[in-house]
Amino acid sequence: MIAIYPGSFDPITLGHLDLIERGCRLFEQVIVAVLQNPNKAPMFTVQERLEQIRRSTLHLPNLEVDFFDGLTVNYAQMRRAQVLLRGLRAVSDFEAELQMAHINKTLSDQIETVFLATSNEYSFLSSSVVKEIARFGGPIDHLVPQHVALDIYRCHAKTHPT
Ligand code: PNS
Repeated sequence: MIAIYPGSFDPITLGHLDLIERGCRLFEQVIVAVLQNPNKAPMFTVQERLEQIRRSTLHLPNLEVDFFDGLTVNYAQMRRAQVLLRGLRAVSDFEAELQMAHINKTLSDQIETVFLATSNEYSFLSSSVVKEIARFGGPIDHLVPQHVALDIYRCHAKTHPT
């Protein structure tokens, strides 16, 4: 069974990585699909995010990293995937995620959304929180892969030269 793990991944966090690793144990193939979203002003380009995810997942042979635009279910159908994988951190995620799952079900009856509970240690973690901490010079090495932390510091140095 093929599962798509769609998201912004701006940037990938250790919480995403945890979910990807667990997804790879459950499904024959997992495709991490980065949304190319013209409405958002991301910190990293899609190419940079793909590279960050690829570098973080070299140890996972049944993982593919790709990008898409438009509807997730259309992309999933094109890739012949049966499952959309999403993580649930807390009750606060539940409403929006449930709405998205229901909407996707109305768009394609063939595709099921599967939720994995985020591991406890990452239940507070999001890409936005990481960017916020970095903006104020706080430590992020325990929240993202090391090379991603360096990318963030570098990006910050570029936009806020001392
Ligand atoms: O990492 P994110 O930002 O929480 O991911 C959200 C994402 C990319 C899964 C969601 O915005 C999405 O699927 N967008 C594609 C457009 C779409 O399919 N919309 C219909 C479902 S609401």
